[in-house]
Amino acid sequence: MRRFEGYGVLITGAGRGIGEVTARRFADEGASVLVTDLDGARAERVAEGIRAAGGVAAALACDVGDRAAVEAAVEHAVERFGRLDVLVNNALSCHPDTEHFEDQPDEEWERDLDITLTGAFRCARAALPQLAKAGGRGAIVSVGSVNGEQDFGNHAYSAAKAGLASLTRTLAGRAAAQGVRVNLVAPGTVRTLAWEGREDSLRRAGAAYPLGRVGEPADIAAAITFLASRDAAWITGVTLPVDGGLLVSNIGLRNALSGQ
Ligand SMILES: NC(=O)c1ccc[n+]([C@@H]2O[C@H](COP(=O)([O-])OP(=O)(O)OC[C@H]3O[C@@H](n4cnc5c(N)ncnc54)[C@H](O)[C@@H]3O)[C@@H](O)[C@H]2O)c1
Repeated sequence: MRRFEGYGVLITGAGRGIGEVTARRFADEGASVLVTDLDGARAERVAEGIRAAGGVAAALACDVGDRAAVEAAVEHAVERFGRLDVLVNNALSCHPDTEHFEDQPDEEWERDLDITLTGAFRCARAALPQLAKAGGRGAIVSVGSVNGEQDFGNHAYSAAKAGLASLTRTLAGRAAAQGVRVNLVAPGTVRTLAWEGREDSLRRAGAAYPLGRVGEPADIAAAITFLASRDAAWITGVTLPVDGGLLVSNIGLRNALSGQ
Protein backbone atom coordinates (compact mmCIF):
# COMPACT_ATOMS: atom_id res chain seq x y z
CA MET A 1 0.00 0.00 0.00
CA ARG A 2 1.30 3.48 -0.87
CA ARG A 3 -1.37 5.75 0.60
CA PHE A 4 0.89 8.81 0.98
CA GLU A 5 2.36 9.28 -2.49
CA GLY A 6 2.97 13.03 -2.94
CA TYR A 7 2.31 13.84 0.74
CA GLY A 8 4.51 16.02 2.97
CA VAL A 9 4.58 14.80 6.58
CA LEU A 10 6.11 16.35 9.71
CA ILE A 11 6.61 14.24 12.85
CA THR A 12 7.83 15.50 16.22
CA GLY A 13 9.97 13.45 18.62
CA ALA A 14 10.70 11.09 15.72
CA GLY A 15 14.35 10.38 16.54
CA ARG A 16 13.49 7.02 18.08
CA GLY A 17 10.63 4.85 19.30
CA ILE A 18 7.08 5.23 18.02
CA GLY A 19 7.94 8.41 16.11
CA GLU A 20 10.82 6.72 14.28
CA VAL A 21 8.77 3.69 13.23
CA THR A 22 5.91 5.98 12.18
CA ALA A 23 8.28 8.08 10.07
CA ARG A 24 9.50 4.92 8.32
CA ARG A 25 5.94 3.71 7.73
CA PHE A 26 4.90 7.02 6.13
CA ALA A 27 8.02 6.96 3.94
CA ASP A 28 7.45 3.32 2.95
CA GLU A 29 3.99 4.40 1.78
CA GLY A 30 5.38 7.17 -0.41
CA ALA A 31 5.43 10.27 1.84
CA SER A 32 8.25 12.80 2.06
CA VAL A 33 8.93 12.98 5.78
CA LEU A 34 10.47 15.72 7.91
CA VAL A 35 11.86 13.87 10.91
CA THR A 36 12.17 16.27 13.83
CA ASP A 37 13.42 15.71 17.36
CA LEU A 38 14.85 17.65 20.28
CA ASP A 39 18.00 15.63 19.54
CA GLY A 40 18.98 16.60 15.99
CA ALA A 41 21.49 13.74 15.64
CA ARG A 42 18.76 11.20 16.35
CA ALA A 43 16.51 12.81 13.76
CA GLU A 44 19.33 12.77 11.19
CA ARG A 45 20.00 9.06 11.82
CA VAL A 46 16.33 8.22 11.19
CA ALA A 47 16.19 10.36 8.03
CA GLU A 48 19.39 8.73 6.75
CA GLY A 49 17.87 5.30 7.33
CA ILE A 50 14.78 6.27 5.33
CA ARG A 51 16.90 7.61 2.47
CA ALA A 52 19.07 4.49 2.51
CA ALA A 53 15.88 2.43 2.09
CA GLY A 54 14.94 4.51 -0.99
CA GLY A 55 12.55 6.91 0.73
CA VAL A 56 12.43 10.70 0.92
CA ALA A 57 13.26 12.30 4.27
CA ALA A 58 14.91 15.34 5.82
CA ALA A 59 15.85 15.94 9.45
CA LEU A 60 15.69 18.95 11.72
CA ALA A 61 16.35 19.59 15.40
CA CYS A 62 13.11 20.94 16.86
CA ASP A 63 12.12 21.46 20.48
CA VAL A 64 8.31 21.57 20.61
CA GLY A 65 8.68 23.80 23.66
CA ASP A 66 10.06 26.57 21.43
CA ARG A 67 7.51 28.41 19.27
CA ALA A 68 10.14 29.76 16.86
CA ALA A 69 11.66 26.30 16.35
CA VAL A 70 8.22 24.80 15.67
CA GLU A 71 7.40 27.52 13.12
CA ALA A 72 10.80 27.00 11.48
CA ALA A 73 10.09 23.25 11.21
CA VAL A 74 6.79 23.85 9.42
CA GLU A 75 8.50 26.33 7.06
CA HIS A 76 11.30 23.83 6.45
CA ALA A 77 8.82 21.08 5.52
CA VAL A 78 7.06 23.36 3.04
CA GLU A 79 10.37 24.55 1.55
CA ARG A 80 11.70 20.99 1.15
CA PHE A 81 8.55 19.22 -0.02
CA GLY A 82 6.44 22.07 -1.42
CA ARG A 83 3.54 21.15 0.86
CA LEU A 84 2.49 19.87 4.26
CA ASP A 85 -0.37 17.38 4.47
CA VAL A 86 0.10 15.63 7.79
CA LEU A 87 1.36 16.66 11.22
CA VAL A 88 2.06 13.99 13.84
CA ASN A 89 2.40 15.30 17.40
CA ASN A 90 4.46 12.61 19.10
CA ALA A 91 6.97 14.37 21.40
CA LEU A 92 6.47 14.05 25.14
CA SER A 93 7.80 14.89 28.56
CA CYS A 94 7.05 12.60 31.49
CA HIS A 95 8.45 13.04 34.98
CA PRO A 96 7.92 10.16 37.37
CA ASP A 97 5.61 10.82 40.32
CA THR A 98 7.38 11.78 43.51
CA GLU A 99 6.80 9.45 46.45
CA HIS A 100 4.58 12.05 48.12
CA PHE A 101 2.19 14.02 45.90
CA GLU A 102 2.85 17.22 47.84
CA ASP A 103 6.54 17.08 46.88
CA GLN A 104 5.97 17.29 43.11
CA PRO A 105 7.75 20.49 41.98
CA ASP A 106 5.95 23.08 39.84
CA GLU A 107 8.77 22.83 37.28
CA GLU A 108 8.10 19.14 36.59
CA TRP A 109 4.34 19.68 36.28
CA GLU A 110 4.89 22.66 33.98
CA ARG A 111 7.47 20.88 31.80
CA ASP A 112 5.19 17.85 31.23
CA LEU A 113 2.26 20.10 30.32
CA ASP A 114 4.42 22.41 28.20
CA ILE A 115 5.98 19.69 26.03
CA THR A 116 3.23 17.07 25.91
CA LEU A 117 0.17 19.31 25.57
CA THR A 118 1.23 22.86 24.71
CA GLY A 119 3.85 21.47 22.30
CA ALA A 120 1.06 19.84 20.27
CA PHE A 121 -0.87 23.14 20.34
CA ARG A 122 2.20 25.04 19.09
CA CYS A 123 2.71 22.57 16.24
CA ALA A 124 -0.97 22.57 15.26
CA ARG A 125 -1.08 26.38 15.32
CA ALA A 126 1.95 26.62 13.05
CA ALA A 127 0.86 23.82 10.70
CA LEU A 128 -2.86 24.50 10.29
CA PRO A 129 -2.57 27.19 7.58
CA GLN A 130 -0.45 24.78 5.50
CA LEU A 131 -2.68 21.76 6.19
CA ALA A 132 -5.66 23.85 5.08
CA LYS A 133 -4.00 24.17 1.64
CA ALA A 134 -3.77 20.38 1.28
CA GLY A 135 -6.96 20.08 -0.74
CA GLY A 136 -8.95 18.17 1.86
CA ARG A 137 -6.27 15.66 2.78
CA GLY A 138 -4.82 17.68 5.67
CA ALA A 139 -4.64 15.75 8.94
CA ILE A 140 -3.26 16.09 12.43
CA VAL A 141 -2.70 12.93 14.44
CA SER A 142 -1.49 13.32 18.01
CA VAL A 143 -0.15 10.58 20.23
CA GLY A 144 -1.98 10.46 23.55
CA SER A 145 -1.95 7.61 26.03
CA VAL A 146 -4.23 5.36 28.02
CA ASN A 147 -2.92 7.57 30.86
CA GLY A 148 -5.21 10.29 29.55
CA GLU A 149 -8.22 8.00 30.05
CA GLN A 150 -7.58 6.10 33.31
CA ASP A 151 -5.30 6.23 36.36
CA PHE A 152 -1.94 4.61 35.65
CA GLY A 153 0.08 7.14 37.67
CA ASN A 154 2.19 10.07 36.36
CA HIS A 155 -0.10 12.99 37.29
CA ALA A 156 1.26 15.72 35.04
CA TYR A 157 1.84 13.50 31.98
CA SER A 158 -1.65 12.02 32.38
CA ALA A 159 -3.25 15.46 32.68
CA ALA A 160 -1.40 16.53 29.54
CA LYS A 161 -2.58 13.45 27.63
CA ALA A 162 -6.17 14.04 28.78
CA GLY A 163 -5.77 17.64 27.59
CA LEU A 164 -4.74 16.33 24.18
CA ALA A 165 -8.09 14.52 23.89
CA SER A 166 -9.87 17.80 24.54
CA LEU A 167 -7.66 19.75 22.13
CA THR A 168 -8.33 17.06 19.52
CA ARG A 169 -12.10 17.54 19.85
CA THR A 170 -12.13 21.33 19.88
CA LEU A 171 -9.61 21.65 17.06
CA ALA A 172 -11.42 19.03 14.98
CA GLY A 173 -14.60 21.10 15.15
CA ARG A 174 -12.73 24.20 14.08
CA ALA A 175 -10.49 22.71 11.38
CA ALA A 176 -13.22 20.67 9.67
CA ALA A 177 -14.32 23.74 7.72
CA GLN A 178 -10.75 23.98 6.37
CA GLY A 179 -10.82 20.34 5.26
CA VAL A 180 -8.44 19.25 8.03
CA ARG A 181 -9.12 16.23 10.26
CA VAL A 182 -7.74 16.00 13.81
CA ASN A 183 -7.49 12.72 15.73
CA LEU A 184 -5.67 11.12 18.64
CA VAL A 185 -4.29 7.63 19.23
CA ALA A 186 -4.07 6.49 22.85
CA PRO A 187 -1.47 3.73 23.13
CA GLY A 188 -1.13 1.34 26.03
CA THR A 189 2.33 0.16 27.07
CA VAL A 190 4.62 0.05 24.03
CA ARG A 191 8.05 -1.57 23.91
CA THR A 192 10.39 1.39 23.20
CA LEU A 193 13.65 2.69 24.63
CA ALA A 194 11.51 4.67 27.10
CA TRP A 195 11.26 1.29 28.92
CA GLU A 196 14.98 0.47 28.67
CA GLY A 197 16.19 -1.54 31.68
CA ARG A 198 12.63 -2.38 32.75
CA GLU A 199 12.16 -5.66 30.86
CA ASP A 200 10.60 -7.28 33.93
CA SER A 201 7.95 -4.54 34.13
CA LEU A 202 7.19 -4.99 30.42
CA ARG A 203 6.84 -8.76 30.82
CA ARG A 204 4.50 -8.38 33.81
CA ALA A 205 2.55 -5.64 32.03
CA GLY A 206 1.96 -7.94 29.05
CA ALA A 207 -0.07 -10.27 31.27
CA ALA A 208 -2.42 -7.39 32.19
CA TYR A 209 -3.40 -6.89 28.54
CA PRO A 210 -6.41 -8.87 27.29
CA LEU A 211 -4.55 -9.51 24.02
CA GLY A 212 -1.69 -10.98 26.06
CA ARG A 213 1.21 -8.69 25.21
CA VAL A 214 2.43 -5.12 25.33
CA GLY A 215 2.37 -3.09 22.12
CA GLU A 216 5.12 -2.67 19.55
CA PRO A 217 5.85 0.68 17.86
CA ALA A 218 4.52 -0.77 14.59
CA ASP A 219 1.08 -1.28 16.23
CA ILE A 220 0.91 2.44 16.93
CA ALA A 221 2.38 3.49 13.56
CA ALA A 222 -0.37 1.46 11.85
CA ALA A 223 -3.07 3.38 13.73
CA ILE A 224 -1.43 6.78 13.18
CA THR A 225 -1.08 6.21 9.44
CA PHE A 226 -4.66 4.92 9.24
CA LEU A 227 -6.01 8.09 10.87
CA ALA A 228 -3.79 10.27 8.66
CA SER A 229 -4.90 8.51 5.47
CA ARG A 230 -7.95 8.86 3.24
CA ASP A 231 -9.12 5.54 4.70
CA ALA A 232 -10.19 7.68 7.67
CA ALA A 233 -11.66 10.45 5.50
CA TRP A 234 -14.86 10.63 7.57
CA ILE A 235 -13.25 10.34 11.00
CA THR A 236 -12.37 13.42 13.01
CA GLY A 237 -12.20 14.42 16.67
CA VAL A 238 -11.82 10.88 18.01
CA THR A 239 -9.51 9.23 20.50
CA LEU A 240 -8.60 5.75 19.28
CA PRO A 241 -7.24 3.47 22.02
CA VAL A 242 -4.50 1.20 20.64
CA ASP A 243 -4.10 -0.81 23.78
CA GLY A 244 -4.68 -4.53 23.36
CA GLY A 245 -8.11 -4.17 25.00
CA LEU A 246 -6.79 -2.61 28.23
CA LEU A 247 -9.33 0.20 28.62
CA VAL A 248 -12.39 -1.95 28.04
CA SER A 249 -11.38 -4.63 30.52
CA ASN A 250 -10.67 -4.83 34.22
CA ILE A 251 -8.57 -7.94 34.61
CA GLY A 252 -7.79 -7.11 38.25
CA LEU A 253 -11.46 -7.03 39.24
CA ARG A 254 -12.32 -10.02 37.06
CA ASN A 255 -9.55 -12.07 38.69
CA ALA A 256 -10.61 -10.87 42.17
CA LEU A 257 -14.22 -11.93 41.53
CA SER A 258 -13.15 -15.33 40.23
CA GLY A 259 -10.81 -15.81 43.22
CA GLN A 260 -7.54 -15.76 41.23
N1 LIG B 1 6.22 3.79 25.05
C1 LIG B 1 5.06 3.70 25.69
O1 LIG B 1 4.82 2.79 26.50
C2 LIG B 1 3.98 4.73 25.41
C3 LIG B 1 2.70 4.48 25.93
C4 LIG B 1 1.68 5.41 25.68
C5 LIG B 1 1.94 6.54 24.94
N2 LIG B 1 3.20 6.76 24.45
C6 LIG B 1 3.42 7.99 23.70
O2 LIG B 1 4.03 7.69 22.46
C7 LIG B 1 4.87 8.78 22.08
C8 LIG B 1 6.26 8.27 21.77
O3 LIG B 1 6.72 7.55 22.89
P1 LIG B 1 8.07 6.70 22.82
O4 LIG B 1 7.98 5.63 23.83
O5 LIG B 1 8.38 6.37 21.40
O6 LIG B 1 9.12 7.79 23.37
P2 LIG B 1 10.72 7.82 23.34
O7 LIG B 1 11.12 8.37 24.66
O8 LIG B 1 11.30 6.53 22.88
O9 LIG B 1 11.02 8.92 22.20
C9 LIG B 1 10.56 10.22 22.34
C10 LIG B 1 11.38 11.17 21.49
O10 LIG B 1 10.90 12.49 21.76
C11 LIG B 1 11.99 13.38 21.82
N3 LIG B 1 11.66 14.56 22.61
C12 LIG B 1 11.64 14.69 23.96
N4 LIG B 1 11.37 15.96 24.30
C13 LIG B 1 11.18 16.64 23.13
C14 LIG B 1 10.89 17.99 22.82
N5 LIG B 1 10.78 18.92 23.79
N6 LIG B 1 10.76 18.34 21.53
C15 LIG B 1 10.92 17.42 20.55
N7 LIG B 1 11.24 16.13 20.77
C16 LIG B 1 11.36 15.76 22.06
C17 LIG B 1 13.12 12.56 22.44
O11 LIG B 1 14.40 13.12 22.11
C18 LIG B 1 12.88 11.17 21.85
O12 LIG B 1 13.66 10.95 20.68
C19 LIG B 1 4.79 9.79 23.21
O13 LIG B 1 3.81 10.77 22.94
C20 LIG B 1 4.36 8.93 24.39
O14 LIG B 1 3.72 9.68 25.41
C21 LIG B 1 4.22 5.88 24.67
